[in-house]
Amino acid sequence: MTTSYSLLRISITMLLFLLTTVFYSACSSGGEEQEPEQNEVKEPDPIANDRPLPPVTSLICDQGTYLTYDNFGASFLESYCVSCHHSSLSEGERAGAPAEVNFDSSELAQLWRVSIIVKAGSDAAPMPPDQNVPKQERKDFADWLNCGAPK
Ligand code: HEC
Repeated sequence: MTTSYSLLRISITMLLFLLTTVFYSACSSGGEEQEPEQNEVKEPDPIANDRPLPPVTSLICDQGTYLTYDNFGASFLESYCVSCHHSSLSEGERAGAPAEVNFDSSELAQLWRVSIIVKAGSDAAPMPPDQNVPKQERKDFADWLNCGAPK
């Protein structure tokens, strides 16, 4: 009686041991399969230095500015933006520019300031769509906006 009882205990112990081993090896092999995938996502690509830089946008006014809406902003917006972004334009005259996105006053320029910095505050930015802005003017425009688009 005692012998068969301990035999039973031994076989149960062995069964548990076997099950544990099978369970563990299944898990750890699953884990190994996933590892390379995770590494691929996390590792930065050291040779991808030729990617185009993202548009440089900023809200930092590091030098201050003498530029104002009156002496600069209005004429810049007039030259490059309000042909599509003017309150008086009908839907058909806006070349797809959203109806509420207008820059024909200093208040509107202030209101849209952050979006304008993102869309037009650097050479890599997409506005105006024809990209016909001299570099220095673009830089002045960014300075004026970054310094709060003063009136
Ligand atoms: C030829 C027409 C045209 C001109 C000129 C133009 N835009 Fe646009 N603008 C669009 C269109 C179309 C969209 C909507 C598509 C998009 O967001 O790119 C747009 C969208 C925008 C937006 C995004 C508004 C939002 O929904 O957040 C901003 C900001 C903007 N323009 C700024 C400018 C500035 C600043 C200029 C001048 C430097 C300019 N645009 C000149 C056509 C124009």
